[in-house]
Amino acid sequence: MSSSDDGHHLLTVTAGAGDDRELISYRLWEHGAVGVEETPTGFRAAFTTRVAAERARDVLAPGRAIETVADTHGLDAARDLLTIETAGLFAVHPPWLAAPDDRIGIEIDPGHVFGSGSHPSTRLALSLLGDEHPPPGTVFDVGCGSGVLAIGAAMRGAAVTAVDIDAAAVATTAENARRNGVAHLVEARVGSIDARADAADLVLVNVTIDIHEGLAPLLSPVHRRLIVAGVLGDDQLARAATAYGGAIERTMSDDDWMAAVLVRS
Ligand SMILES: C[S@@+](CC[C@H](N)C(=O)[O-])C[C@H]1O[C@@H](n2cnc3c(N)ncnc32)[C@H](O)[C@@H]1O
Repeated sequence: MSSSDDGHHLLTVTAGAGDDRELISYRLWEHGAVGVEETPTGFRAAFTTRVAAERARDVLAPGRAIETVADTHGLDAARDLLTIETAGLFAVHPPWLAAPDDRIGIEIDPGHVFGSGSHPSTRLALSLLGDEHPPPGTVFDVGCGSGVLAIGAAMRGAAVTAVDIDAAAVATTAENARRNGVAHLVEARVGSIDARADAADLVLVNVTIDIHEGLAPLLSPVHRRLIVAGVLGDDQLARAATAYGGAIERTMSDDDWMAAVLVRS
């Protein structure tokens, strides 16, 4: 669990008429916000550490002051909206709702990290994962968030290594793996792509394009098959395919969000 210093640290991000609000919200969660509230002028996001708030600020609102508060009332509202999200073979559901009988249920208490299944990028990655035949025997999930993708892979029998640079995400993944009865198949740890990933049949990466481009050079050539998500539109998908050096085998989209299976030769 990431350590909490003195209270919560609030970052305000302004969103104008031409800005993509969905992307800004996604990026706040991706940078480790523990709560995000939409306001008429943009977003207010809470972080448990000043370092995390500053990291997000430097990318999303350079120069903006960070406010430290004791109370984050209102920033948990997103949890009340959680519902059952179907994604191909899978249905992601919070603990208080049951999955439909015709899907593999993934029970996710997202805690305060990304991956409740309510974001299109998660659903697209899960749908592509469910379509993998035969199911992969070993999977490396980069940026595991809530563990939703890692658990989906484990539910189909894969041995999964799940990594995230956010310690809170790693703890949430381990807890969610336990609640889904696949803890023996999911090893969650703090980190990113490294040589220990080399055994994986399939790599899963749901992050924004700038992070894809930073991660791609770290990937060893032994990784032949990836599912990438978190990209917006054909241009970003092409950029991701170029960065990873993979041919696009299959794509799925939801509005502007795109995901793909990439095959490297
Ligand atoms: C958009 S979330 C995806 C969560 C989950 N895999 C899903 O599909 O819903 C991206 C995650 O990547 C993590 N992350 C960002 N940069 C990373 C990096 N360089 N290496 C590993 N994880 C990273 C973030 O902390 C965040 O939990």
